[in-house]
Amino acid sequence: MSYIKLDYQYSNIPIEDILEYKEEIKKIHNELHEKSQDEREFLGWLTLPTTYDKKEFERIKKAAQKIRKDSEVLLCIGIGGSYLGARAIIESLTHTFYNYGKGNGPQILYVGNNLSPNYMNDIIDMIGEKSVSINVISKSGTTTEPAIAFRIFREFLESKYGIDEARKRIYVTTDKEKGALKTLATEEGYEAFVIPDNVGGRYSVLTAVGLLPIAVTGIDIDRLMIGAKIAEDKYKDDNLKYNECYQYAVLRNILYKNDKNIEILVNYEPKMHYFTEWWKQLYGESEGKEKKGIFPTGVDFTTDLHSMGQYIQQGRRNLFETVLAVDNPNIDITIKQDEDNLDGMNFVAGKTLDYVNKKAMEGTIEAHVTGEVPNIVIHLEKLEEEAIGSLIYFFELSCAISGKLLGVNPFNQPGVEEYKKNMFRLLGKSGY
Ligand code: PA5
Repeated sequence: MSYIKLDYQYSNIPIEDILEYKEEIKKIHNELHEKSQDEREFLGWLTLPTTYDKKEFERIKKAAQKIRKDSEVLLCIGIGGSYLGARAIIESLTHTFYNYGKGNGPQILYVGNNLSPNYMNDIIDMIGEKSVSINVISKSGTTTEPAIAFRIFREFLESKYGIDEARKRIYVTTDKEKGALKTLATEEGYEAFVIPDNVGGRYSVLTAVGLLPIAVTGIDIDRLMIGAKIAEDKYKDDNLKYNECYQYAVLRNILYKNDKNIEILVNYEPKMHYFTEWWKQLYGESEGKEKKGIFPTGVDFTTDLHSMGQYIQQGRRNLFETVLAVDNPNIDITIKQDEDNLDGMNFVAGKTLDYVNKKAMEGTIEAHVTGEVPNIVIHLEKLEEEAIGSLIYFFELSCAISGKLLGVNPFNQPGVEEYKKNMFRLLGKSGY
């Protein structure tokens, strides 16, 4: 059983070239699995769909129910791995206009992912008189952007509800014992959820980091975990010949060696925009180090065919595309015949919009491959919980394998500290 299918015919890489990595992959596979239970390694995500904390999971569902009952808005405070995964899943599985009155739950507003006063004021404006809860998410508990946002919105909540009621509306997701946020949560008695030590930020969406905000929207997190578990079981196979997740990692590395150092994740479904943002962080932060790594970027087609299509077709030939093809739409629409046909579009009459979208995809793949942009296609059965859970796991695992093939540590991010040091010095923080 699988919700994902890899098609690499348009990469022009034969299976024989992929299988040359067979032994190397086996070695990496064994290394990851042997160390997966070692608390000092950042490999907790590898077995998370099986070993996740079931008690905490029930507590997440309970908290989500309470938020759904008593809040019109959930403020999700976090940055990077502490919000992108939740947003990716929420937007791919809910109504496109969830936050504009079409949601089956509280509005989800994301803050603490930038330092813009305009954005912050607009969020306050957007909340207006609505009832609010906060989920502040930070593994380190010390990240500047969410810390400042939490300072602002904690005060906002306390003046709106008084200290006692505000305490009941603040949910903290952080380390089990370290960090300023953990200290604050303990002192104030906020309900706290744990980010396991051995799960890094960008690999943490299937912990409370993602699961609480996701559950608040009404998405079925049990089904999400079932999908991830199906992927965990499926991609346990150390034989590269049968493991499409590992094949994707190998394909990327072969293309990189052939000077294709920019990977564009392509979707034909606007709901997947934030999935691409999550994927960009996962791969960019995991592989971009030691002056190595594929630069991950993304486009939303067909929209961006009218902005980026020209470059992809004829610009520098250092690109390859990975197309995320959703095979079945949740709902479709048939284009009608028009008697006058003034727009000349009767050639699509009787066809569904999804059919036209698919033909645009096929035509684009053909054009880009002809233009020397190799394509990898990842088919996803449908935008539903199990499939998305599987896809999350597929990308996390292939990212770890790909980083190892590249010869970097896919679980650290030392480069992120550089801007922080300068910013702290410029802000006059002591010690900088
Ligand atoms: O993947 C990572 O570790 C980072 O992107 C972090 O998620 C991000 O920097 C936020 O960190 P924190 O959760 O500690 O606030």
